[in-house]
Amino acid sequence: MQLEGKTAIVTGGARRLGRAVALALAERGANLVVHYGHSAAAAEQVVAEARAHGVEAIAAQADFHRPLEAPRVVEAALDHFGRLDVLVNSAAIFEAGSVLDTDEANWDRHFAVNLKAPFFLSQSFARHLPPDGTGKIINITDWRALRPGTDHVAYTLTKAALVTLTQVLAQALAPRVTVNAVALGAILPPPGADQAYLERLARSVPLRRHGSPDDVVAAVLFLLEGSDYVTGTTVLVDGGAHLWGPPSNG
Ligand SMILES: NC(=O)c1ccc[n+]([C@@H]2O[C@H](COP(=O)([O-])OP(=O)(O)OC[C@H]3O[C@@H](n4cnc5c(N)ncnc54)[C@H](OP(=O)(O)O)[C@@H]3O)[C@@H](O)[C@H]2O)c1
Repeated sequence: MQLEGKTAIVTGGARRLGRAVALALAERGANLVVHYGHSAAAAEQVVAEARAHGVEAIAAQADFHRPLEAPRVVEAALDHFGRLDVLVNSAAIFEAGSVLDTDEANWDRHFAVNLKAPFFLSQSFARHLPPDGTGKIINITDWRALRPGTDHVAYTLTKAALVTLTQVLAQALAPRVTVNAVALGAILPPPGADQAYLERLARSVPLRRHGSPDDVVAAVLFLLEGSDYVTGTTVLVDGGAHLWGPPSNG
């Protein structure tokens, strides 16, 4: 797919990896809907930076703790741009929780933000696709989805389900929409952790270093622009972490 002149939504596009992906799409000429939850000022900043690339951009708020409201981001895209070609589901939460201490609230928060919102956004994307329209959906997941450990239980379950959802959607929306996932390893320290945490984590993966937002952008751009003949797959951008498993596994 040629991104120039297309319209893309990036959820959680105001900050961190979502921001990097959003600005990369703008740089390739895609008009942008920068979804945000709480980061209104940061979203407006991304909008301004996207416009500096010569594209049109808007910010759209939706709290994915109420996932049935997520489709209004699709509606905002269609109202403003009259078309929607790309959906990148990047917004997520990542909260600790073992098998013994995960409570229902932790479980529900993860399923709402990390799984229900991407599902209802994808459904809305598909429902609004014109009869001759084509599109691409990218779900950002985690290598833990494929090689689970015992921490972050609800998070891991949602990211594993997102891989399965990718496979379901790829079949249901073919041949006009491709749906793929990008499973990340240590790229940025999680909120609340510092760079030293990331460096420690990075030592436990085969490539012995953490990745960068550019690595994530490269994988997303490959799936969007590099090939139209890839669907239902999960590209691992994790330095090989999935080969060795969680540090506690040895
Ligand atoms: N960072 C990594 O190294 C890493 C590793 C593995 C997987 N991943 C995955 O990569 C993606 C991006 O990672 P990241 O570290 O950049 O993510 P992040 O900073 O933890 O969060 C991304 C965005 O999610 C949005 N979000 C959270 N709760 C929300 C809610 N209730 N409603 C609406 N939006 C909500 C936030 O938007 P607002 O700020 O606007 O509220 C936030 O900016 C995520 O799917 C993550 O699971 C990242």
